[in-house]
Amino acid sequence: MGKIMLEVKDLKTKYVTRFHEDVYAVDGVSLTIEEGKSLGIAGESGCGKSTLALSLMGYYFAPLHYMSGDIIIDGTNISGMKPDDVRHKILGNEIAYIPQAAMNALNPTQKIIRFIEDVIHAHDPKATKKDIYDLAKQRFEVLGLPPEVLQKHAVELSGGMKQRTVIAISTILSPKVLIADEPSSALDVTSQKMVIKMMRELMEKGFIRSMIFITHELPLLYNVTDDIMVMYAGQIVERGTAREMVFDPIHPYSKGLMGSIIVPEAGTRDQKLTAIPGTPPNLKRPPAGCRFADRCKYATAECKGATVAMKDFDNGRSYRCRYSVEHLREVYADE
Ligand SMILES: Nc1ncnc2c1ncn2[C@@H]1O[C@H](COP(=O)(O)OP(=O)(O)OP(=O)(O)O)[C@@H](O)[C@H]1O
Ligand SMILES: [Mg+2]
Repeated sequence: MGKIMLEVKDLKTKYVTRFHEDVYAVDGVSLTIEEGKSLGIAGESGCGKSTLALSLMGYYFAPLHYMSGDIIIDGTNISGMKPDDVRHKILGNEIAYIPQAAMNALNPTQKIIRFIEDVIHAHDPKATKKDIYDLAKQRFEVLGLPPEVLQKHAVELSGGMKQRTVIAISTILSPKVLIADEPSSALDVTSQKMVIKMMRELMEKGFIRSMIFITHELPLLYNVTDDIMVMYAGQIVERGTAREMVFDPIHPYSKGLMGSIIVPEAGTRDQKLTAIPGTPPNLKRPPAGCRFADRCKYATAECKGATVAMKDFDNGRSYRCRYSVEHLREVYADE
């Protein structure tokens, strides 16, 4: 086993709404990522993927609140750190985050090089403009981005170029963990491919040491990440290698989710993950027992009883279901 870059233990975070209601969006998530590896996270809209990404940075602002659990980056536990310390010591160099729709958040009237100066100055206030420019130019060249972009304003760049620029800015300090939330979703197919290629290069060239990739597009996840985790209603329901998760999903929810990838039909690439009938539970009042039971065609009354913990099986695989792996495989084989 390689060196662990990110270890998360039983992380629980919640939103507190204006009406003082709690939304348990990340409810007991544990995961590990080794150096040089990438982890994909899949799941329907609203299952908590973006909240997990935000929570992993240890940077909490209302309405999001930390409840319990550990976030350990390369041996350092950042949970409970003050937001100021997280901002100056962790964000950018230990863990970098590319938020959903990041490219639209770039201030259009600011030159790209200024964003890079901001990122670097947050950690090294003494860095000179020349040093920053030289570093940025070199990094852009290695990543196949024209260095002229550094002197442009965000508004002058195409969507694909803007997104690749955002990724280059976010990773300029060579973070140990990069979390990319739907980094290619809003782009055309050609730009998507370039973004994916760039993410791979960041890892191969050692500019990032591990990666979490969040996307709705399962075919894409399969091609980019080593492992895949499926999230449902604030919890992880299964983890395995990308290959195992696609060709041998065990949890009934993963099975439903992955169904679409095995026989990709023309035009299904951008399809949102809505193939499973029903809707996820309300995270203000998550149900007792299995959270997927209401939508699971194999569920019985017992499934709605006791809480189900993640169970290990095979090498590094785990799932959250009352049934045994053998039973589920048999059921699937009979269909
Ligand atoms: N600011 C907020 N206040 C209260 N609840 C929120 C807030 N932001 C998100 N939520 C709720 O938290 C849950 C998880 O949302 P999140 O955005 O993490 O889902 P997601 O998996 O990233 O969805 P998508 O695929 O649409 O991006 C949802 O039930 C959502 O309604
Ligand atoms: Mg999201």
